[in-house]
This record gives sequence, C-alpha cells and structure tokens, in this order.
Amino acid sequence: MDIFIEDDYSGMSRKACKLVADYIGKNPRALVSFPGGTTPEGFVNEFVTMVNNDAVDISQTRYVSLDEWVGLSAVDEGSCGHFNMTNLINRLKKPFAEVHLIDGAAKDIQEERRSLDRYIAGRGPLGVSVLGIGLNGHLGFNEEGVPPDSDALVLPLSATTKKVMGKYFGNKFSPDFGITQGLGQIMQAGMIVLLANGSHKAGILRRAFKGPVTPDVPASILQTHPKVMVGADRDAAAGFRD
Ligand code: GLP
Repeated sequence: MDIFIEDDYSGMSRKACKLVADYIGKNPRALVSFPGGTTPEGFVNEFVTMVNNDAVDISQTRYVSLDEWVGLSAVDEGSCGHFNMTNLINRLKKPFAEVHLIDGAAKDIQEERRSLDRYIAGRGPLGVSVLGIGLNGHLGFNEEGVPPDSDALVLPLSATTKKVMGKYFGNKFSPDFGITQGLGQIMQAGMIVLLANGSHKAGILRRAFKGPVTPDVPASILQTHPKVMVGADRDAAAGFRD
C-alpha cells in the first residue's frame, strides 16, 4: 500500500488524476470506475480537463459506476448517477468508449444488480477503481460486515450512512438500500486509488489502514490489495500519525 499526502484537496485531486491518466495511458482499453460523493469532485474536474485537453485518450476506455442509492437514478439530483452525468460524462468533449451507470430506480433491482455483474464480468476485471470512504469505512455501499469476495450487492444502508446522506439530497429522498459493486469486484482492480480529505476522515483512515483487516471496517480489506494508493490531504492524513 502506498500513501500519498498532499498539502490540500487540489493537490490530492491532481495527483490522483495523474495516477489514473498514467494507468489509462498504459492500458487504454481498461474498465474504470469512479465514485460519487463529494470527495471525487476535484479529481473528476481534473480528469475532464485532461481529457478535453487531449492529455489522456479515453476513446477505448470503458466506464462503470460504483454504486447508487436504491430508488434514485441519474435524473435525481444528489444521486451517484447524477454526479456521474453532470460532473463527468456530460462535460467530456471526447467520450468513453462505453458507459454503464447503475440505475437505482430500476423496477427489478436484483436484475439491475445482475446486469452490473454481467457488465463487469464481460468487460472486466476493473483496471482502475477510484474510491471514496464512508465515515464507517464503507466502500461504495459495502457497509460493515459484508463478505470480502462478493459480486454486486443490494444492501441495507447503515445508520452512519443514513445520518450523512442528507448532504447529497436533503430530505427529498430517504433511501433504505444501496446497490454497489461488491468488494470482490473492487479487489480485482489492477490499481485502486482511495481518496479522503478533511479532518472528519482522519479517524476512519486510521482504522482502515493502521488497524487490523476486519469486516467491521470494509475498507481495511484494501490493505491486502497489491496496488492500492491512498491519497489524503493534510487534514485527513492526521489519521496516519502515531
Ligand atoms: C457515499 C457513497 C460512496 C462514497 C462515500 C463517501 O455514501 N456510497 O461511494 O465514496 O459515501 O462519500 P463522500 O465523498 O461524500 O464523503
């Protein structure tokens, strides 16, 4: 595991973007996945700028989303799909070869989960997986206790996730479940870049990467991945200090 600590959020986002762009440069046909949430905004901005300035060629690269709130789709402001469309997909002057976004509002959510599995099995494994981290250590919606080797899952949201979800869509929606790539799919990625910024993420970074590998902290499984880069700004990196 490599840790990169940058002075601030912009530095962390730029560095993450360079890592991903280098990976795509070497693996142009890779399947890549970025998270929703607030953490990746800067990274995604950098990425769009690089693509639009021809600094990275994604014409053969495929994109799959990480997770979605069950009941919400890309038309719902605050959803992961909406983040993907407005911050990334719609701003690219040169598109990905393919895009697969999870539809959390699908009538048959289990079929949507199977469709995600089929997509990843057919185009994968993942090349790069960029991840955020929840305050409870979740990756995507892999909450506490999930098996470390599973394919896509539809899971109940934890109390912690329910507490913070208002920051994305206020009281407009109140989902009880999430649909997410499974830890097994994430762990098969060629390279994983996990990003965390802000002092509120220091404690969970510490538990995930300085504590034991345990299903109680889903992100801790990343300690066993051969190529994981954990990026933090100074505030979040306080969690790595003794
Ligand atoms: C959310 C999402 C994750 C995200 C994480 C951190 O609930 N399910 O994909 O990475 O929690 O979110 P944020 O970046 O907003 O802190």
